[in-house]
Amino acid sequence: TTGATTLDPGFVNTASCTSAITFIDGDEGILQYRGYPIEQLAEKATFIEVAYLLIYGELPTQEQLDRFSGKISRRMMLDERLKELYRSFPRGAHPMQVLAAGIMALGAFHRDNLSVHDPAQVEEASLRLLGSMPTLAAYAYKSSVGEPFLYPQTRLGYVENYLRLSFGTPQEEYEIDPDIVRAFETLFILHADHEQNASTSTVRLVGSADANIYASMSSGVNALSGPLHGGANQAVLEMLARINDEGLDIKEFVSQVKDKKSGVKLMGFGHRVYKNYDPRAKIIKGHADQLLRKTGASNALLDMALELEETALNDDYFIERKLYPNVDFYTGLIYEAMGFPAQHFTALFALGRLPGWIAQWREQHADPARKIGRPRQIYVGEKDRTYSPINER
Ligand code: SDX
Repeated sequence: TTGATTLDPGFVNTASCTSAITFIDGDEGILQYRGYPIEQLAEKATFIEVAYLLIYGELPTQEQLDRFSGKISRRMMLDERLKELYRSFPRGAHPMQVLAAGIMALGAFHRDNLSVHDPAQVEEASLRLLGSMPTLAAYAYKSSVGEPFLYPQTRLGYVENYLRLSFGTPQEEYEIDPDIVRAFETLFILHADHEQNASTSTVRLVGSADANIYASMSSGVNALSGPLHGGANQAVLEMLARINDEGLDIKEFVSQVKDKKSGVKLMGFGHRVYKNYDPRAKIIKGHADQLLRKTGASNALLDMALELEETALNDDYFIERKLYPNVDFYTGLIYEAMGFPAQHFTALFALGRLPGWIAQWREQHADPARKIGRPRQIYVGEKDRTYSPINER
């Protein structure tokens, strides 16, 4: 019994850990960070405020938030030599490859906070990661488009810095639009944690071996890059673009999805836990329409996504399988409207998910009884065989 719900024995057998960070009720479509409903946080909090909540367990006072934000802001600038790493990648390298390498490299540049046992080093590394991530992600985008890197500015907020580092150039200052900043605060909050998903479980498993926090976070980025996981936000836009480019009728595409032999999936739909509408998708859908109008981006793909959702939600194949839109279904439309190329969408997911990974990694390390992760298996292979000389095989 966790207080919130009584777990049946079967569930307990599959549970990989106990945690007090994020609560999901997949049947009811409920998501809470440290007990706060995602709907309230998405609408009222800032991303750094939620990062504080996830990591330390309580919403910060103004003084705590100012101190936390200041420490993060002073760690946004990267070691100059890290730029050489970016310049060594080919132009078409995927931003998630560059980001995973950048985080690993960060650990090499900050070897004085690699300890997993010294709380002061874990705190410093957490702040370093939170500060560097927007710069690492923005530089991955800049190097992919061949534009020069800007420097972060302590006078700007976290999201403002990220947007300016991504879209500003030495020729033209990036004009901060408060509506766009608010939308990205909400988007990053919605991605901030999600209990034991594939990338968070990866972070925990790698961390359980006492690998340093940078190695654990870099592993999380690699797991998240998979199209079945965070990579789905890129795959959704590629799916919509294919439907559009091939002039497919929505019903025609949905019948391809239902034909198992086609191997075609409705990307952005379905979830391991949610068997109801993903509460995050609901919130993002509302922002998509408002932001596309604001940026003047064409609504064609949004209209297509809305028709796709409507068709699927009224089709028995999806109803019987409890397949609903998940967090990735609408995000790509917003990121593209903002000017990000599809290849960069999952780096945005990683930026949002970082505080959750850090909180989960620290929660695991705070447990004095913790053990190294060691999943077992059901062995179904041959046993007790005798070696035969090669000329007798
Ligand atoms: C994220 O875990 C998390 O919390 C992840 C995440 C987070 O915040 O960290 O929420 C982020 O990863 C969201 C998911 C993004 N991925 C996608 O949108 C990719 C498309 N979705 C699917 O690949 C799939 O739904 C998964 C991978 C998300 C879940 O896979 P499962 O567990 O195999 O799905 P399931 O057991 O619920 O499937 C039941 C049936 C199966 O068909 P049958 O064998 O019963 O005939 O539904 C089918 C599946 O084949 N199905 C789909 C489908 N998803 C499931 N059919 C078509 N299109 C889909 N998208």
